[in-house]
Amino acid sequence: MQHSFEINSASGSYNAMVGADIFGDSVGRILEKKPADKVFLLIDENVESHHGDYIINTLKSSHCDVEVKIVPQGEGSKSVPFWEEASTFLLENGVRRNTPLFVAGGGVTGDLGGFVAATTLRGIPLVHIPTTLLAMVDSSIGGKTGINHHTGKNLIGAFYRPDSVVADIRFLDTLPRNEWINGLSEILKYGAISDNAIFDDAEIFLQADISSGNADTLINLIAKCIRIKADIVQKDEFEGNIRAFLNFGHTFAHALEKECGFNAMSHGEAVFLGMLAAARLSNQTGSKLHENRLDKFRPLYSYRVTAEELNAESLTHHMRADKKRIENHIRFVLLDDWQHPVLKTVKDEELIYQAWRTVFSELQNRQKATI
Ligand SMILES: NC(=O)c1ccc[n+]([C@@H]2O[C@H](COP(=O)([O-])OP(=O)(O)OC[C@H]3O[C@@H](n4cnc5c(N)ncnc54)[C@H](O)[C@@H]3O)[C@@H](O)[C@H]2O)c1
Repeated sequence: MQHSFEINSASGSYNAMVGADIFGDSVGRILEKKPADKVFLLIDENVESHHGDYIINTLKSSHCDVEVKIVPQGEGSKSVPFWEEASTFLLENGVRRNTPLFVAGGGVTGDLGGFVAATTLRGIPLVHIPTTLLAMVDSSIGGKTGINHHTGKNLIGAFYRPDSVVADIRFLDTLPRNEWINGLSEILKYGAISDNAIFDDAEIFLQADISSGNADTLINLIAKCIRIKADIVQKDEFEGNIRAFLNFGHTFAHALEKECGFNAMSHGEAVFLGMLAAARLSNQTGSKLHENRLDKFRPLYSYRVTAEELNAESLTHHMRADKKRIENHIRFVLLDDWQHPVLKTVKDEELIYQAWRTVFSELQNRQKATI
């Protein structure tokens, strides 16, 4: 089973593919269409240790030299110094305007590599090989690239269209379980804002071993998410309006990550809690979400932060400092109903504090559940 999408952007269209064992054929086709005597590969260090030989040999089988740069795992690589190091590697090793850069890894390597491709010689061809679930359903689609700055996350970057995205689920065989759960949060986000059937498909995550025996369901699920993201970014590539719907739960999540530190709270955990809070705030501001469709996934999440360590005022303060804030009051992606996201400015802080209380009680319940 395989899905292929043509995604339009202001600078042309690109192809995204998802399937099992599609990497070899896809790369063959890409390099047949645009032959190159040399390609560059930026590859996450963990991906290199599990899949490096396979990826490099596959690229070499298209009769080109492969120049490899390993990207240390972790958010720290999305930095100005590492961007410079990677760009220097390309420039010192003979990159030309038509030399493709293959980027294999999760969102960290993808965002960094995308920005290297966007900036080197004012833009070289880019092929994303996403190897985490999050990168397959989210970060490799839509053209956002970038690195962090000491004043905040993703503050330096560019919109840059890849030439192709090849999502081969075989790479997920080595993905640690916590990274599956990270990706799940973004998948559930698509369920909430666009397609409730995703909540049923995502029940495969409730099984002990997510990937084995579920390949087709997983491919279909990833394809659904890619289609939803592609539809949204095609209508609003530069986030003037509806692209913001992809941030459902994220205003709360970013505040949690900031307050707890990225080591104490993973992005996926923060997004899940953020979606619970956003659902509550939706109801407090006039919606009637009777059933909480996120409920059945609660047991999959565990937290290293306790409710006692957090306070609503400080968290709300972080929200106000968010770079996406454009007015004095905080603007949220809420749900008029499931599958009907809406942007709302909430002026009454007490309502925001109540939404935080949903997060605190979830932390307490999950703590009890794991005692
Ligand atoms: N550009 C966008 O639109 C967009 C959207 C969402 C998130 N992001 C960014 O994505 C980043 C997070 O991405 P992520 O969650 O993929 O994290 P990540 O890239 O840090 O990868 C998570 C971990 O998984 C490891 N890994 C990756 N693939 C593996 C595999 N196949 N087998 C074993 N281990 C593997 C990595 O080494 C790392 O330790 C953040 O920096 C975020 O800002 C960007």
